[in-house]
Amino acid sequence: MLTLKDLRVSFHTYAGEVEALRGVNLHVDEGDVLAVVGESGCGKTVTAQSVMQLYPREVIDYKSGEIIYKGQNLLALSEKEMQRVRGRDISMIFQDPMTSLNPTVTVGKQITEAILKSGGKNGARVDKARAEARAVEMLRNVGLADPETRMKQYPHSFSGGMRQRVMIAIAMSCMPELLIADEPTTALDVTVQAQILDLMKQLQAQSGTAIIIITHNMGVVANIAKNVAIMYGGIVVEHGTASDVFYRPRHPYTWGLLKSIFRLNKPKDEPLTPIDGAPPELINPPPGCPFAERCEYAMNICLRGMPGEFSQGERHSCRCWLYDRASLVKPAEWEEYRYA
Ligand SMILES: Nc1ncnc2c1ncn2[C@@H]1O[C@H](COP(=O)(O)OP(=O)(O)O)[C@@H](O)[C@H]1O
Ligand code: SF4
Ligand SMILES: [Mg+2]
Repeated sequence: MLTLKDLRVSFHTYAGEVEALRGVNLHVDEGDVLAVVGESGCGKTVTAQSVMQLYPREVIDYKSGEIIYKGQNLLALSEKEMQRVRGRDISMIFQDPMTSLNPTVTVGKQITEAILKSGGKNGARVDKARAEARAVEMLRNVGLADPETRMKQYPHSFSGGMRQRVMIAIAMSCMPELLIADEPTTALDVTVQAQILDLMKQLQAQSGTAIIIITHNMGVVANIAKNVAIMYGGIVVEHGTASDVFYRPRHPYTWGLLKSIFRLNKPKDEPLTPIDGAPPELINPPPGCPFAERCEYAMNICLRGMPGEFSQGERHSCRCWLYDRASLVKPAEWEEYRYA
């Protein structure tokens, strides 16, 4: 459904060129729930905003690569064509719903307007009464009690979790094929986080909408993700099914992330260990593997060259020199080694 191929994106700033994305490969299947995980500053938001093309063209430079959505390259569309994709095919929700909700307009009106703007199925016109009825239904679907009263209220009378539910209602009201949620629960407390993720899971199952959930907390998405992409330093370092990434992780950064999350099956005396250090600056980033500075397995080659993508199975890949077969002993030479 959506494929990012070697996407390279830079920002021009006074301090220099920020190489925010340095060759991102990513794919989302129809009806997928893809979690994009990585520490802050790894390029998750830039990836999402690039798909939606929400940056003004003056500040961002799409250096190369493609964003293929259902067979067409979104980077080749005009702004007008892109607006149609944004309203109808792909929607996005953000970390802080207060910045995307208008504080001076009732919640009901905001949802109704979103429905009127995007239209019904296949863009058919919807009249105001139908749109309002649908807005009430959407509020009920996202778990708000007494939706008729809620329609008439302003965002400030909603809690953080309820506002995020409203944002989900707005995003889902145009029946998108893909929903991108950028840290949708990060600003919420832990129980509310779990409720919102449950809600998204439930809506996903009902509607079949594919979802990309962006998060810096791997533990949060363990129950909901079908596939996982781990980002680091402007690239996707590991991509696979949730069971591949959680049970057969290959990349040292993924190992680090897994060691730093809480798990019930973890032995009691094994501490949670955060990864030492911080992600690299993306102004003049290192030429080699972006993780090299923090990686306990780093080899000489890691400092010199960006690792390619090495397949780890049908749907599992990893960008780490440890898996470069060219650097390993070749099968034909095994015998020799065994008897040497
Ligand atoms: N508008 C911008 N101008 C300049 N640099 C930016 C801008 N937005 C993001 N960046 C840089 O791009 C990199 C990736 O950022 P981002 O995608 O926001 O990270 P994440 O969402 O994973 O925390 C960071 O180094 C950040 O400083
Ligand atoms: S490429 Fe090298 S530095 Fe990078 S994660 Fe693999 S072993 Fe570590
Ligand atoms: Mg972000």
